[in-house]
Amino acid sequence: MLNIALPKGRLGDKAYRLFNACGYPCAAMEQDDRRLVLVSDDKRVQYLLVKPSDVPIYVEHGAADVGVVGKDVLLEGGNDVYELMDLGFGACRMCVAAPEGFRENLGAPLRVATKYPAIAKRYYAAKSRDIEVIKLNGSIELAPLLGLSDVIVDIVETGSTLKQNHLEILETVLPISARLIANKAALKFKTCEIQPLLATLQTILKKGENA
Ligand code: PRP
Repeated sequence: MLNIALPKGRLGDKAYRLFNACGYPCAAMEQDDRRLVLVSDDKRVQYLLVKPSDVPIYVEHGAADVGVVGKDVLLEGGNDVYELMDLGFGACRMCVAAPEGFRENLGAPLRVATKYPAIAKRYYAAKSRDIEVIKLNGSIELAPLLGLSDVIVDIVETGSTLKQNHLEILETVLPISARLIANKAALKFKTCEIQPLLATLQTILKKGENA
């Protein structure tokens, strides 16, 4: 049986719809309960519902053979997994944003609030800009409003959180979307299960049937 780690929440719901379209339906997934391990109707795959940031950890350690994860989580975690495919959905971008009218003091380290310290450090290191990272776990937009940071590095999807908090985008760090990842050993030893899944995913994504 193939173990597939799905991120709980919106991204996971979209991922399941895609796997369903690929021929791996799971009636249990439609029920609103608290189960975390759900076997597909034909018992070919087992869906594991995990916290989004933990998906690459389950896959790296082989607790899941494949998983679906945002590129943001993948880059931040730096886990030793194969990135197999861009699944296209969950599109947004990682941006630097600041209060409207912000003027940077180039004589001091830039104070950056973010859920993504590794991505922020890499981004500013490449620009040779000194920063002080303030790691937060949510509501990042609040930090510059209260003077906790100068800017934020965060995900922007519709842009409404920024707008409603009077922040504006200064720079785009990178585009983000959902990726299919695989455990390195599983890709070798479970080729018979993984390859057909990859082939079907490719066909469906090409046709845009998952939309
Ligand atoms: C994410 C992100 C932004 C918001 C962007 O937060 O950190 O705050 O979504 O979306 P938008 O551009 O469509 O407004 P999330 O909803 O995950 O909550 P969080 O603040 O707890 O991180």
